[in-house]
Amino acid sequence: MASILVLNGPNLNLLGVREQGIYGSTTLQAILDACQRFADSCGFQIEHLQANAEHVLVDRIQQCAGSDTQGVVFNPAAFTHTSVALRDALLAVAIPFVEVHLSQPLARESFRHVSYFSDIALGTVSGFGADSYLLGLQALINHLDTDGTIPLAPLSA
Ligand code: DQA
Repeated sequence: MASILVLNGPNLNLLGVREQGIYGSTTLQAILDACQRFADSCGFQIEHLQANAEHVLVDRIQQCAGSDTQGVVFNPAAFTHTSVALRDALLAVAIPFVEVHLSQPLARESFRHVSYFSDIALGTVSGFGADSYLLGLQALINHLDTDGTIPLAPLSA
């Protein structure tokens, strides 16, 4: 079955606890459950990895080559602003991906204004809290649906 990888960088395992004023109270598991429900309605399976270590994320991206994974919804978290290695991994496997952020990095500290991913992503969704993932997933699925057979499913599915 065609699948989409939801890939999460450092500290996102702490969603629901971590800086709730910025990231909200929704846990990562709740986000994944909502992504799976939405993907189900479109005939996709969700795979997931959260890692705090850069090399683990690089290895996971490399595994997408030649696999059933058709695209990635990626929140690189702090690596957004630092990681040439993750950028190079995505370019190496040439997999379509959407960059997502719960917060709006451009409205935060200046060191968050640089992204190593935005210019190579299909697009970026940021600032909508947990909904950024669902919006990004919907955009990715619409992009992959080249023959237009998947009807737009409601985001709250
Ligand atoms: C984040 C924004 C990053 O700047 C930050 O380092 C994160 C989370 C977001 O989802 O808003 O860890 O990617």
